[in-house]
Amino acid sequence: MTARRTIPFFDYPALFRELEQEIMTSVRDVFARGAYIMQRDLLDFEKELAAYVGVKHAIGVADGTMGLLLPLLAMDLKLGDEVIVPSHTFVASAAAIHHAGGTPVLADCGRDHLIDPQSVRKLVTKRTRGIMPVQLNGRVAYMEALDSIAREHGLFIVEDSCQALGAKFKNRFAGTFGVAGSISFYPSKTLGAFGDAGAIITDDDAFAEKLHILRDHGRGPDGSVCMWGYNSRLDNVQAAILRIKLKRYDSYVVRRREIASLYQARLGRLSQLLLPPAPGSEPDHFDIFQNYEIEADHRDELRAHLEEHGVKTILQWGGKVIHQFQKLGFTETLPYAQKMTDRFMLLPMNTTLSDDDIEYICDSIEAFYRA
Ligand SMILES: Cc1ncc(COP(=O)(O)O)c(C=O)c1O
Repeated sequence: MTARRTIPFFDYPALFRELEQEIMTSVRDVFARGAYIMQRDLLDFEKELAAYVGVKHAIGVADGTMGLLLPLLAMDLKLGDEVIVPSHTFVASAAAIHHAGGTPVLADCGRDHLIDPQSVRKLVTKRTRGIMPVQLNGRVAYMEALDSIAREHGLFIVEDSCQALGAKFKNRFAGTFGVAGSISFYPSKTLGAFGDAGAIITDDDAFAEKLHILRDHGRGPDGSVCMWGYNSRLDNVQAAILRIKLKRYDSYVVRRREIASLYQARLGRLSQLLLPPAPGSEPDHFDIFQNYEIEADHRDELRAHLEEHGVKTILQWGGKVIHQFQKLGFTETLPYAQKMTDRFMLLPMNTTLSDDDIEYICDSIEAFYRA
């Protein structure tokens, strides 16, 4: 075993240092122009993001949560309308459905931790209006199966692709399967802003027009108010920073996939762990590894051992999935999600990690299970 290291779960200052000069030049330029709200940096970023995922429209919004809420508001949910969403997601996914006037109905997940289409099928009722697949950990769900359920029952799909910019299923980008997809630029995301930021992507012209109006106080292109709206614009200065990172985005994804392959090579043989599918192991999936979420026997003891050896790990959502938040009143029984929450954890995954860091993490995990 090599000398002790300190491996933070996430290293924001290191990420800043990598691009410091370029970012400061660009931010200074925005400040010098006094260009704060809906200026050319935002418009350019929206164009570049839309081109990246191959859709007609990207609409910058305040954060990924608003990127979910605004499309749901645009769908005009009525009281009692149900939208199926996985329980293993950030509470924001279900909260968006609630705040849009609908009822979130929680589905189970499968071994890859993403929404399980069989669970979704069982939950469809005559009140169901839509499905919100969550493209969790940088991977796209089995969209063919979900799409066929949606078609059979006349349901809309709004994708929570907050964690999955650049991930693909059958060569199609996350966020482009339904009427709209939301992307989060929360600082820890693979395309992370320096604060809150998000975007909605859509190919539908009329829907995009409605979203532009909703994010800007209900004002149409001529400035007159045509519906109740929100103030949910992506800050121009964040857009300027995101443009710098978007240019390098593919290299971030390459590095994350390399790290996932290193984890796989070292940890794949440990029977005590369940790893995410390895990069390239399934021809239909191109995963970007926003997170590296594993299941582990003796999870809490393993985390304590890693902490002792200087390696920080975390549990998504603080270790509970949505149906376990008792105050929200859910009564669902979801066997896989239930069992998984005693076992799931995130290993460090970001571009500031070196190969030696990954070797050290794997050495520490192996040592734990050998003991
Ligand atoms: C799956 C998922 N949904 C929704 C969100 C909400 O995004 P934001 O924090 O940008 O509002 C996030 C990210 O934090 C997320 O990971």
